[in-house]
Amino acid sequence: MRLAIISMILLTLIAVVSAENSCVECHKSVSAFTPEEMRFNEIRKEHLERGVSCSLECHEDLLSRLAMSNYAQWKSSKHAVSGVTCDKCHGGNPEAKDKDGAHVGVLRSSDPDSPIYYLNLPSTCGKCHEKQLSEFSLSEHYRKLERVELAPTCSTCHRPHTFDIPEATEIARICQNCHNENIGANPEVPNKAQELLKQSLELKAVVNKMKAEGKDGENVKKAEQILNAFPVTWHEFNLERLEAEIDAVKSLIGIEKETKPTPGFEAIILSIALLAALLIRRAVK
Ligand code: HEC
Ligand code: HEC
Ligand code: HEC
Ligand code: HEC
Ligand code: HEC
Repeated sequence: MRLAIISMILLTLIAVVSAENSCVECHKSVSAFTPEEMRFNEIRKEHLERGVSCSLECHEDLLSRLAMSNYAQWKSSKHAVSGVTCDKCHGGNPEAKDKDGAHVGVLRSSDPDSPIYYLNLPSTCGKCHEKQLSEFSLSEHYRKLERVELAPTCSTCHRPHTFDIPEATEIARICQNCHNENIGANPEVPNKAQELLKQSLELKAVVNKMKAEGKDGENVKKAEQILNAFPVTWHEFNLERLEAEIDAVKSLIGIEKETKPTPGFEAIILSIALLAALLIRRAVK
């Protein structure tokens, strides 16, 4: 009897999750590109295949990103797995089968009334990501957005529609779009933020190793708690606080505080190699 009830609940759940969603069904076959854009992509792809260098933008991963539709990007995201369908962010009626019926209430991202207008994104995403929103709303970035000034919104770092987590190695580049000498918004921020993020990941690996070795005392548990919360607390973009947390973790697990980080030997070699490759490429052209 109990088993029957459980299976019924399970079946209903599966049905709800996989219930047809007209946005997803129809957009599977809608290309995000105009015929012109598709032709341009084809030309770039041919260039790549023949090893012809066109411009810096010809980078392979950028190309594959361009060649993918919104649907394809979304399909490979955690959102797709978790049933966060198009209508959850865009609105509209996912039960209507026809385009016009489904699109009622769907507004362009440039429309200030759209839930995906950049200023409205924190609250749209924050409906499900409450903790990130509440940290983010403490940030200088959020205050800037409220005053309609230059600042990153959720989609600046979590790109539509993969909405994945940027790699620790990508972070400095994202911050540098604004935190640079020209714009003047604290140019030390990018490297500092990237270093802290990297350290949090490294420390997590250390803590996991300690736990695997049976060292799971009170201090290790506390350190783990801080590190697990890091991906949320990070969204206040308060570097002093993050630094203090990293230091707290280090002393909890008995690692000495480091002195100023210097660029690693590998990083220097890599830069030289990249420069050389660029020069050779120019000479061949
Ligand atoms: C029967 C097919 C169909 C259905 C159902 C459908 N769409 Fe679309 N959608 C399209 C097509 C085709 C376009 C390309 C632009 C156009 O022709 O209007 C489009 C464009 C869009 C755009 C771009 C904005 C614009 O105005 O061009 C968004 C956003 C969008 N759809 C979201 C949704 C959402 C959310 C749903 C579900 C609630 C949905 N669509 C359901 C076919 C559909
Ligand atoms: C988690 C939220 C979210 C989900 C889910 C989502 N989108 Fe979007 N979508 C966005 C955001 C944010 C933008 C604005 C991107 C920008 O600012 O460049 C956008 C932009 C678009 C655009 C460009 C039109 C415009 O107004 O800028 C299309 C087309 C689109 N989405 C289609 C889809 C389709 C189809 C799905 C489902 C397969 C989907 N989206 C799922 C958040 C989402
Ligand atoms: C309807 C609820 C909902 C909305 C709206 C929503 N998300 Fe999500 N999001 C989820 C769920 C559920 C997951 C997967 C659960 C998990 O892994 O924590 C997720 C996962 C994520 C992840 C982690 C992805 C990964 O690869 O680990 C990011 C980043 C994210 N969402 C960003 C956003 C952004 C940015 C927006 C707004 C544009 C948004 N989400 C809107 C529910 C939502
Ligand atoms: C779209 C532009 C933009 C992006 C991208 C951006 N910021 Fe900012 N950020 C700003 C602006 C503008 C300020 C306010 C600076 C001021 O008033 O001097 C600010 C302020 C800050 C501050 C607090 C003030 C300070 O200068 O110490 C921190 C910390 C910060 N940002 C961290 C980051 C980090 C980390 C990233 C990347 C993960 C990032 N920001 C990406 C625009 C941006
Ligand atoms: C300036 C860049 C930036 C902005 C703006 C930003 N995030 Fe993030 N987000 C990140 C980074 C980097 C991580 C990974 C942090 C880590 O691993 O410690 C992350 C992690 C996440 C995660 C995964 C958390 C987890 O537990 O794994 C979610 C969900 C998320 N962000 C949602 C949001 C939402 C919602 C907004 C807007 C309110 C937002 N982010 C704004 C950079 C950003």
